[in-house]
Amino acid sequence: MKKTMLGGLSARQFIEEYWQKKPLLVRNAFPGFGEILSPNELAGLACEEDVQSRLVLQQRGKWKLEQGPFVEERFAQLPEKDWTLLVQGVNHHLPEADELLHEFDFIPRARLDDLMVSFAPDGGGVGPHFDSYDVFLLQGVGQRMWRISGQDDMTLVPDSPLRILKNFRIDQEWVLNPGDMLYLPPRLAHWGIAVGDCTTYSIGFRAPSTQELATQFLVFMQDRLHLEGLYADPDLEAQSRPAELSGQMVNKVETMLQGIHWSGDDVADFLGSYLTEPKPHVVFERPRRIGMDKFREHLTKKGLRLDLKSQMLFRGNRIFINGETVQVEGELLALLCELADKRMLPPGASVPDEAVALLHQWVSAGYLHF
Ligand code: SIN
Ligand code: CO
Repeated sequence: MKKTMLGGLSARQFIEEYWQKKPLLVRNAFPGFGEILSPNELAGLACEEDVQSRLVLQQRGKWKLEQGPFVEERFAQLPEKDWTLLVQGVNHHLPEADELLHEFDFIPRARLDDLMVSFAPDGGGVGPHFDSYDVFLLQGVGQRMWRISGQDDMTLVPDSPLRILKNFRIDQEWVLNPGDMLYLPPRLAHWGIAVGDCTTYSIGFRAPSTQELATQFLVFMQDRLHLEGLYADPDLEAQSRPAELSGQMVNKVETMLQGIHWSGDDVADFLGSYLTEPKPHVVFERPRRIGMDKFREHLTKKGLRLDLKSQMLFRGNRIFINGETVQVEGELLALLCELADKRMLPPGASVPDEAVALLHQWVSAGYLHF
């Protein structure tokens, strides 16, 4: 963590006072921060199949949204002002972006979503809105004016392709310069407007809804449920209406379903697999097959790195990587937890024999690289 990035606050102080509670503006949070990628490189990413990108334009007072991937010519036809290009998951493509995310390691990785980068010429932005996640907005090149509002009125403009607040009331306003950073908690209304050409880096932390967690948990639990028995009604009550679903049957089935239970371990396994599951557009490139001897040699000489798209977490003796779970012990467990934390294993690290086969498998799947 950079000393300056929370304006002199420790991670603990920041979390106690601001995290999920109130906004924090930090001037010169990243002194000398300029750009990780140029607007041209950003546009290049937005043309790729496996990258999620959006263009937002304001035309005659109306908001327009176009989804990527784009063709290069699209960028040549854009107006001088009042548009913005937003690219998600830039950390999946640039090691420097992944490094930037490491500065935010004081917040658990399980909460991290991705790094989004936007470029806008003068006047560009996505309008007044609120997000349901925490975000650190780090100013790259140029300036952006941020307006925020503590308002409760979350009424949206009807029939708009974007979620725009109908009545935005400005409470505070700042112009951010390169290296300045604004933290915003979820549901705080905000509006960023480019002042000249401007690049903004959004480090976003996901907050899944209860509904989403519950739905996904039930899907996960389907394969784990093993309930004994069969519906039985030796005490069947004769009924005069044959088509009527009886209260007796409803009660019996309700009792049967009360046999559905889960434990903290089920929840942990679900979370590990759900949070590391790659998004649908993510593809891992498999390298050419490499024999075990060569693999050992490379491992010792070069160490290993997680692929930029890989997500890895752990809890207890369980390791979660890209939606998969393995249970390990002892030295191997310590090594894999280290890999998950640092996203790399240094050259010459002592690797127990049983780890070699597992790491080889993950390298073959494209999850790890030398
Ligand atoms: C941006 O325009 O870069 C930030 C979008 C946002 O306000 O969430
Ligand atoms: Co926002």
